[in-house]
Amino acid sequence: MTTILEFKNYRMGFKDDEGKQYNLLDDLSIKLEENKALGIVGESGCGKSMSSLSIMRLLPPAAVVQSGEILFRGEDLLQKGDEEMEHIRGNEISMIFQEPMTALNPVMKIGKQISEAVLLHNPKMSKKDAKKRALEVLERVSIPNAKDRYDHYPHEFSGGMRQRAMIAMAIVNHPALLIADEPTTALDVTIQAQILDIMKQLIKESDGSLLMITHNLGIIADICDEVVVMYAGQAVERGTVKAIFDAPQHPYTCGLMKAIPTTKSEKEPLYTIPGTVPTVLQFKEGCRFVERCEYASERCHEKRPPMCEVSADHLVYCWKFASGEELSC
Ligand SMILES: Nc1ncnc2c1ncn2[C@@H]1O[C@H](COP(=O)(O)OP(=O)(O)OP(=O)(O)O)[C@@H](O)[C@H]1O
Ligand SMILES: [Mg+2]
Repeated sequence: MTTILEFKNYRMGFKDDEGKQYNLLDDLSIKLEENKALGIVGESGCGKSMSSLSIMRLLPPAAVVQSGEILFRGEDLLQKGDEEMEHIRGNEISMIFQEPMTALNPVMKIGKQISEAVLLHNPKMSKKDAKKRALEVLERVSIPNAKDRYDHYPHEFSGGMRQRAMIAMAIVNHPALLIADEPTTALDVTIQAQILDIMKQLIKESDGSLLMITHNLGIIADICDEVVVMYAGQAVERGTVKAIFDAPQHPYTCGLMKAIPTTKSEKEPLYTIPGTVPTVLQFKEGCRFVERCEYASERCHEKRPPMCEVSADHLVYCWKFASGEELSC
């Protein structure tokens, strides 16, 4: 297997007005193999978007990269010049954002935006061929009457169609890596299912790899081969979807599983993990989940748990597991 993307002991955070630094992503190590789909899951504020924006080198101005590497095909993206990065974005790595209007230009026709993206990366292609390619890709994401829709503006599209147009734009140059950051959270459930079906189809057909970012474990189970569970900027559990869903070993993963709605939960109140994710200003030494963990001991407050191997395809960072106690949930 060839690794396409790897975070190696990556640390990033933010600086305040006085230049004091706070850490968010803490020693993050993740691997994505070619032609596979990796999910990053965690509640709001866990650092999922900061991870994807780090790959794209599109972090907000207050962000600081503190150490580590982000390897794409073995080369560190953090060392790339702006021009080279510009070429990689959209050509080799593409991103689908939560809110399509952040990626679509409101005053340019949808079709033109897509064919311009084609031309940008294939400067020698004729306008006619670029249009043909744009139409093909609009059809591929199931935009009805693509020929007519080509000349519509983003505001003339429904939310679900805008999201599909953005997917079309993201895949039109056949990126080796597609990053989807909560691509369906803003949509209603039916449209969400349609978009996920399209994405599944695309994964099946293409040779690309997918990094799917979501707070929804159901989506991970549906689409991904492997998963990283993140809590407050720390990876707490990693492995194949099967291994982790069969026997989660981190109390946070367990909590996320219990919070998945089932038909039974229509009658009972839905489980929620007590408490909230701390912000960067509140992080302390040790495991960041400690305040919400029913198993927390003194050690958990003092030192971040080591990486423990549950099996060849399953890792967990937890002192409970490290001391030989398996979790059953
Ligand atoms: N300018 C900033 N200064 C300090 N902290 C910041 C800044 N911007 C974001 N953060 C912190 O980064 C974290 C949010 O990270 P991120 O946006 O990656 O979360 P997320 O997992 O994508 O959440 P969501 O599910 O809501 O999209 C929060 O803890 C927030 O406090
Ligand atoms: Mg986010």
